[in-house]
Amino acid sequence: MSPTDSLVRPAVRWSLGHALPSTVMRNAARRGDLQGRLVDRRVAHDHAALRAIADEVRSSGPLHRARYALMTAHQPVVREVLTSNDFRTGVFDAGDEGVLGRLGTWAADPAAFGPLSPPSLLVTEPPQHTRYRKLVTRVFSVRAVEGLRERTQQVADELLDDLEAQARPGDGPVDLVERYCALLPVTVIAEILGVPAGERDRVLAFGAAAAPSLDLGLGYAEFRRVERALAGFRAWLAEHLAGLREHPGDDLMSQLVAAREDGVGLSDAELEATAGLVLAAGFETTVNLLSNGIVLLTEHPDELARLRADPSLWSTAVDEVLRVDPPVLLTGRVARRDTEVAGVAVRRGSVVTCLLAGANRDPAVFADPDRFDVGRANARDHVSFSAGRHYCLGAALARMEGEVGLRTVLDRFPDLALERGARRRPTRILRGWETLPARLGV
Ligand code: HEM
Repeated sequence: MSPTDSLVRPAVRWSLGHALPSTVMRNAARRGDLQGRLVDRRVAHDHAALRAIADEVRSSGPLHRARYALMTAHQPVVREVLTSNDFRTGVFDAGDEGVLGRLGTWAADPAAFGPLSPPSLLVTEPPQHTRYRKLVTRVFSVRAVEGLRERTQQVADELLDDLEAQARPGDGPVDLVERYCALLPVTVIAEILGVPAGERDRVLAFGAAAAPSLDLGLGYAEFRRVERALAGFRAWLAEHLAGLREHPGDDLMSQLVAAREDGVGLSDAELEATAGLVLAAGFETTVNLLSNGIVLLTEHPDELARLRADPSLWSTAVDEVLRVDPPVLLTGRVARRDTEVAGVAVRRGSVVTCLLAGANRDPAVFADPDRFDVGRANARDHVSFSAGRHYCLGAALARMEGEVGLRTVLDRFPDLALERGARRRPTRILRGWETLPARLGV
């Protein structure tokens, strides 16, 4: 690649992936377009505004025709799109013939690494996806996750011991996101990846840097920072995986390195991509689940009292948090051929935006959908983990971490009170709190 190319290509990648979509969406929003309004960062985090848009999308039929995409907030339609073989993930495809598709192919960095770059599971489709995901699922089994529960509990207890030891009367509030919500998932991910304790801070730094790669509308400087952080993570991973191959531990990554299906294992690129995806897709989403849960439960003391009276409701409560305040706002799919969804014709190449947050409040599925009810019988029917073949691989892990993490902090500090200064994250697709100042009440 010529020096000019190496300057121009990242700029084109950024323009296509971030600048163009956000400019187009801002302009569309000004004209009242629902998709444009939806990805405005103020709306993405405002329950009432989001609900109003989702209701409007839903009231216009199974698929709402926005200027640049079709949209749906009907849960059965979301499920139909996400499970259909007529749709694929990823916006640009090597086969796209349009000008933007060709430009995207030219600007693509063959060494690109990230949750939305091949061979990440998220942008792989059958038949590769089937074999690849089967191997990964076998290692990330429900049993393996249950095996991590005790360790997760221990980590949560230790983090809260530290918080309590440092909280002296007269001190200011502590930031629960920084000191608790962020540290629990990263420690669990580090255990899964077999990272030695001394290198965990690096995983935390990589995780924080990689998370925005799943978002939209990054500024150029941030986009380049994310690309560089991901490249750094990949280099570190290559060395780490070579180490695990030579000296396997009892962590899940070592098992994935050794996993075989009909004698064939994952390639180095697939192993690196999977480790990268576990970090990018499993870190900030879980931090957001914990912070959203702390806010919802402290804002609904009656629901918290129900949990205290009947702790068997905790697992339902975690699903209810995921339903009401999902860490991922939406996902999208592209029609790979002319097709039909809920009886509506969809042309090849059309993008369908599945509004997960809207489908979670579909009144046809959830009675009184805006009510936060920790005993809701069908709370688990939300689509916060998506659906179909890309259904979140870490769902069981996230539920376990959500349950242990929320229950431990709220049991330990029954008088926990949030203080002024709480702030939502600036991201649009990933939804959660950036900072949650709190008094522990000890
Ligand atoms: C509350 C926490 C989490 C939420 C809300 C969440 C949400 C999601 C969603 C919505 C998707 C699918 C996106 C799409 O269909 O386009 C997904 C995929 C995925 N998630 Fe999660 N996730 C969470 C935690 C985790 C964790 C802890 C892991 C770690 C193992 C993880 C690993 C993955 C992977 C590997 C995929 C891709 C699966 C595939 O494409 O086959 N996630 N997640």
